[in-house]
Amino acid sequence: MTNPSRSALIDRLPKAELHLHIEGSLEPELLFALATRNGVAIPFDTIEAVRAAYDFSNLQDFLDIYYQGMSVLLTEQDFFDLTWAYLERAKADNVRHVEIFFDPQGHTERGVAFETALNGIEAALKAGEAELGISYRLIMCFLRHLSEEDAFATLEQALPHLERIHGVGLDSSEVGHPPAKFQRVFARARELGLHVTAHAGEEGPPEYVHEALDLLEVERIDHGNRALEDAALVERIAAEGLTLTVCPLSNLKLCVIGDITDSPVKRMLDLGLKATINSDDPAYFGGYIGANFHAVADALDLSEAEVVRLAENSFTGSFLPMADQIQHLAEIAEVARG
Ligand code: HPA
Ligand code: ZN
Repeated sequence: MTNPSRSALIDRLPKAELHLHIEGSLEPELLFALATRNGVAIPFDTIEAVRAAYDFSNLQDFLDIYYQGMSVLLTEQDFFDLTWAYLERAKADNVRHVEIFFDPQGHTERGVAFETALNGIEAALKAGEAELGISYRLIMCFLRHLSEEDAFATLEQALPHLERIHGVGLDSSEVGHPPAKFQRVFARARELGLHVTAHAGEEGPPEYVHEALDLLEVERIDHGNRALEDAALVERIAAEGLTLTVCPLSNLKLCVIGDITDSPVKRMLDLGLKATINSDDPAYFGGYIGANFHAVADALDLSEAEVVRLAENSFTGSFLPMADQIQHLAEIAEVARG
């Protein structure tokens, strides 16, 4: 149920977003505009037809449409426009810091240069920092349905740009592509000084979360829903203070949960886990970070203290330096005092 005081608090709280695929913020309106601008054919006649196609029964259903959507992204300007549109939405939700994913292989596979995506995304992030006051980190993900060799080739392409890329992640089709497949490429990324995170336990079993921790040595777990099936794993994640980047509306749209009231966010907090709220692919899943906060707060009747905790976790789970985290926490405390 909606609670006006809690709703106002959610809107006013400073937030960080830690799990956002920039290609998943491509709204149908921009999809059409870029298709026209670039002369790319798309299999939809109207925006309504696009939205109607966003009806998924699992992760793969979504990924098929997600990769198709990317086909309109060709130039630096396209990547700039995409990223800028996201940042304006984030600003409206009082987001102060973003750590966004991009999928270089989704572009290089189509003949779009690694640098075209990187330059466009980064230019918008820099403009967002200067004009909207949103700080950022950029994380490149490896597509786990592709080979280890392909991931290594992608890491190679990033080498001239290591001061512009802050971390690596692992996304795409989870089941059948365990973290173990990428142990060596993650080891190399860590040697290069990159942060490391991975999607684990979205559809995949708790063993994949164990592998992400043991073999990839991740600093965060993206999603992590199925970690709750394993009590020893829960204890370990709590003891190590690892952050889980939970995506409630994504979970609902991809049928990871049957109803928004099944979101694991409150259970995670009750178990002492550092859960955060994120939008994943907001153009496809029906809402940005604010909508995700409101959806779970209303469905799970979160207390104001829990909502504040989620906002705090988003900064303490970020890759920001401690001094910056402390500054954001002080501002949250001020907002929470009312
Ligand atoms: N899961 C896995 N891969 C993805 C996702 C997701 O939710 N979004 C974009 N790539
Ligand atoms: Zn994701």
